[in-house]
Amino acid sequence: MKYQVIYSSNTGNTEKVAKAIFSAIPGFEKDIVRFEEKTIPVDADVYFVGFGIHKGACPMILLDFLSELHHKKIVIFGTCGLGSDESYYRCLEDEVKAWIADDSEWIGSFMCQGKMPINVRNKYVEMLGQGNDPKIEKMIHNFDLAMTHPDNNDLQNATAFVEKMIRKIEEY
Ligand SMILES: Cc1cc2nc3c(=O)[nH]c(=O)nc-3n(C[C@H](O)[C@H](O)[C@H](O)COP(=O)(O)O)c2cc1C
Repeated sequence: MKYQVIYSSNTGNTEKVAKAIFSAIPGFEKDIVRFEEKTIPVDADVYFVGFGIHKGACPMILLDFLSELHHKKIVIFGTCGLGSDESYYRCLEDEVKAWIADDSEWIGSFMCQGKMPINVRNKYVEMLGQGNDPKIEKMIHNFDLAMTHPDNNDLQNATAFVEKMIRKIEEY
């Protein structure tokens, strides 16, 4: 079984998770490529496809790539600013899953929180006092919680997730 990890990452959060995932894949039949940098090999059996969420979505260019992977096993992973909201995670995962070709097979998904650039917080602060303070304060609180992510616990969860995925793939 040959494994390919590919990921898109603007600020390095998904890259951290991608590297943890890559390390957790056993054996030597594996490769990791940053989507923006190289042509992606299409000869692997299993693809771990990773992305950071921007404006509510996975980058379109990565979704296009995903839709062109045929007869592969696909594992999705990603990071996003909002944390501790499993239903939000499931929603993002489902949107990405919908792009998997019918002849490929979704194996599983993993999401965790990722820190955001400080200008995002500055914008929230500017919005205070304009009539929706409880919501804005919640967003600032979430921003502050995200500051340390992905943390060691997220990376350990990513490792455990890979072990689960490998077991699932081996059972096929
Ligand atoms: C311009 C911008 C838009 C973002 N939009 C969202 C969003 O809609 N939902 C969300 O949960 N997080 C959002 N985030 C947070 C990113 O998903 C988060 O920081 C992620 O970990 C980035 O991953 P990367 O560093 O691998 O690109 C946004 C961040 C930026 C900078």
